[in-house]
Amino acid sequence: MGEHGEMADFVVVANRLPVDLERYPDGTQRWKHSPGGLVSALEPFLRARKGAWVGWPGVADVDVDVDEFHDGGMRLYPVTLSATDMRDYYEGFSNATLWPLYHDVVARPVFDRAWWDRYVKVNLRFAEASAKVAAEGATVWIQDYQLQLVPKMLRELRPDLRIGFFLHIPFPPTELFMQLPWRAEIVRGLLGADLIGFHRPGGAQNFLWLARRLVGLEPSRGAVGVRSRPGVVQVGDRPVRVGSFPISIDASGLDSLARSKEVIARAKEIRAELGNPKRILLGVDRLDYTKGIDLRLIALQELLAERRVLPGDVAMLQLATPSRERVEHYQKMRGDIEQLVSRINGEFARVGQPVVHYLHQSVNRKELAAFFSAADVMVVTPLRDGMNLVCKEYVACRHDLGGALLLSEFAGAAAELTSAFQVNPHDLDGVKNALYTALTIDPAEGRRRMRALRRQVLTHDVDRWARSFLDALGTESA
Ligand code: ADP
Ligand code: F6P
Repeated sequence: MGEHGEMADFVVVANRLPVDLERYPDGTQRWKHSPGGLVSALEPFLRARKGAWVGWPGVADVDVDVDEFHDGGMRLYPVTLSATDMRDYYEGFSNATLWPLYHDVVARPVFDRAWWDRYVKVNLRFAEASAKVAAEGATVWIQDYQLQLVPKMLRELRPDLRIGFFLHIPFPPTELFMQLPWRAEIVRGLLGADLIGFHRPGGAQNFLWLARRLVGLEPSRGAVGVRSRPGVVQVGDRPVRVGSFPISIDASGLDSLARSKEVIARAKEIRAELGNPKRILLGVDRLDYTKGIDLRLIALQELLAERRVLPGDVAMLQLATPSRERVEHYQKMRGDIEQLVSRINGEFARVGQPVVHYLHQSVNRKELAAFFSAADVMVVTPLRDGMNLVCKEYVACRHDLGGALLLSEFAGAAAELTSAFQVNPHDLDGVKNALYTALTIDPAEGRRRMRALRRQVLTHDVDRWARSFLDALGTESA
């Protein structure tokens, strides 16, 4: 890359490339779509923009034998990670320290000095790779919690660049952030950017407080607005803006896909495959302990036990993408969820008629759109989620105004999707009652709610998110 390849005016830097490399024992390999909301949101945008993407190809210890390659409209630049990098930087510091700390400590974060050292080293590697790819004066947009030191490191290497950073997960309450032994280093790392974006104004506000408390800077005092009135903090002669930019989806793309004959036919087929129950409940998540998959299953189990819901009337489909499978919390949670599924089926299923259908798999976009179209109630119950794109995807697929959305108050999306049935996921009775109400909703009321939800999602798509961020960064023409 760099001196040999083309330099790019617009560069996205993320832990993962939008495609993962899969290598098979016979020596063959294939690229497949990477999991998670970050890739779902950014990929369509970057493809249209013909930008460059710097990221990890998803497997440890492989030397990808190219410096860069093209995928549709994008140029991809692999950063390779060793098995130790993967263990200490990715599974360790990113996903067993920062992930639980930033998600309200729903699991206990581990503070390990060797993990931190590796996080610093790998962040430097990403900064160096980005410095080689970016053209003079380019815009570089760094993504997410795995790369919070890159803004400062990259600025030191390349002061000519315009640097943005966006955090895709929640930014925690200051009391929790203060637990982190390396808290000042993270805040300083982020302050290397010209613009730091969070989903919610509360995250931006927390960060501004920390910039004062940990770095001694003097931030602006006014309240941060959504897509407007960013806070400002002066770092030497450089103003750093700090704002709220709620992410979204390719809403019109999904809307058209859901209207296609193929998806409509497949949705019917899915209903039939599930035995044409009166109501279908759907959950779609990465298999992650923040997503509240267990508590939605417990709510259903109790409704069945109380006979408020009858087994033959309802089928629940839970799609769970495998995720971070070597991290201990994830292994335990998978066991717990699989036990719950079999307990519910053991108690309430008939031969050939399970109540819960559980797929520990990813499905493609068309199939996913068909699942969304077939589901009467979409169940989204995270204990904490930065945004949650799944609920927006469901809404985008319901051009028929059918279906109901059950949504946790603790997903970032709750601030926008106010016509959903909102629940406190810690309140099991509340979840059960809302689930029951959503299952028995009057169709006219359901249509009214869905119309309102669609108005919000279709007018606030991922393009608007990216444009509002890049406008605030001052590089929309980039
Ligand atoms: P996160 O970023 O924490 O994974 P989001 O809800 O924001 O959560 O994004 C998840 C993305 O992954 C969505 O685009 C969703 O459609 C996709 N996804 C989740 N589970 C599956 C699955 N089993 N098959 C296919 N796509 C999935
Ligand atoms: O923002 C959520 C997120 O953590 C992304 O950063 C990440 O790419 C995605 O979910 C999937 O997680 P992972 O890359 O660890 O498989």
